[in-house]
Amino acid sequence: MADIDDRKTVLIHSAAGGVGIASMQLAQYAGADVFSTVGSPDKREFIKSTFGLDDDHIFNSGNTSFGDQIMAATADRGVDIILNSLTGDMLDESFRILADGGMMVETDHLISRSLNCSRDAMSSPLTQFTSSPFTDVPNAVGFLRPGKHIGKVVISNRPNTKISVPVLRALKHLHFRDDATYLIVGGLRGLCGAVAIYLAKSGTKQLAVISRSGHTDKKSRSIVKQIKALGSNIDVLTADVTSKGEVQRAFNQTAYPRDGIIQGAMVLRMQGTWNLHEAAEKLNLELEFFTMLSSISGVIGQHEQANYAAANLFLDSFAAHRHQRGQAACSIDLGVIEDDGFIATQMRASRRSTLTAGHSRASTTGSFGRFSTFPSCSSRAIFRTRRRPLRKW
Ligand SMILES: NC(=O)c1ccc[n+]([C@@H]2O[C@H](COP(=O)([O-])OP(=O)(O)OC[C@H]3O[C@@H](n4cnc5c(N)ncnc54)[C@H](OP(=O)(O)O)[C@@H]3O)[C@@H](O)[C@H]2O)c1
Repeated sequence: MADIDDRKTVLIHSAAGGVGIASMQLAQYAGADVFSTVGSPDKREFIKSTFGLDDDHIFNSGNTSFGDQIMAATADRGVDIILNSLTGDMLDESFRILADGGMMVETDHLISRSLNCSRDAMSSPLTQFTSSPFTDVPNAVGFLRPGKHIGKVVISNRPNTKISVPVLRALKHLHFRDDATYLIVGGLRGLCGAVAIYLAKSGTKQLAVISRSGHTDKKSRSIVKQIKALGSNIDVLTADVTSKGEVQRAFNQTAYPRDGIIQGAMVLRMQGTWNLHEAAEKLNLELEFFTMLSSISGVIGQHEQANYAAANLFLDSFAAHRHQRGQAACSIDLGVIEDDGFIATQMRASRRSTLTAGHSRASTTGSFGRFSTFPSCSSRAIFRTRRRPLRKW
């Protein structure tokens, strides 16, 4: 452990924390000349009474004053070993007072090495801790936050205590049939491109995609290539989903029965969604999923976007309507997608920040594709990546 012995000077930052206390014991066991920093008068008293250090070996960890004081205490030589837990200016100052050939040890490295040390080194077990039950983790974290605690905070329960922890259900793993066609409405240039790749990776064999302007652009061609490389086939169709006739024509063009639909076209979404529903009804399709890429703006509203918010709310309500008829439907209220799609690629930065203020953000690499094949959610699923991936109600 940093070749510590009785000829070395050691500085232990934040010495009254759990790691700090254990390190103080180890350093004193090795006979080193130990300096320490602490963050409050209480902690100073604790170090004095527990380890017998004098005031001229205990400094303040809250600013860089410890640097000059340690240089004075070591006759400008500095210390041989620093156990660091500080950052920023305090870290810079720590490097400054490291003696020639000295060693800076980050606490996590020390912990893994010290586990191999002799138990003899620990003069006593760590007795400075505050215990909280599993049912009170938020308070335990709140107790840590001000940095005023001494020792460790331990989460533990007495034996035989019954603990119930709320958990999110694991996502369903869908199996796609080889003889089924899954239809994506909304081209391959935006988010639907990521969905198409997700479906291909998940084992779909036959996809069909619809957009008005076709799929000859560079991005769409690249996605088609990736889908084929994944062993799936994809029919690229040109149709306007807001035209009933074009939707029906597109349905008839695909080779196999259509088993799942993802509606991601942004323009005139109410009309387009209704046309898709009607075309499926006409063919008596029993869809495994009918997923609409909706937006959180239908829930929280958006500056200058009343029409868009209303359309999203329609999609959420339409999902409920299909449920009432015993049909699969899911309206996914996406937050702002940062790395793909309309907002990321088409919108000016200033407009983007006005529109997206207060929205939760996500990325396509955050695998929202997984949610696009939910057979059903009770009415709307809100997709966020920050804390909880998906909330249903
Ligand atoms: N991007 C985000 O951050 C975000 C956030 C929340 C919700 N959403 C929703 O997610 C969906 C996809 O968004 P995106 O960002 O990928 O949009 P996008 O980049 O504009 O892609 C949508 C695609 O749909 C096609 N399309 C539009 N109208 C159509 C129509 N009438 N018929 C057939 N195809 C049509 C467009 O191709 P053509 O022009 O060639 O037809 C376009 O490539 C949208 O419904 C959007 O409201 C997106």
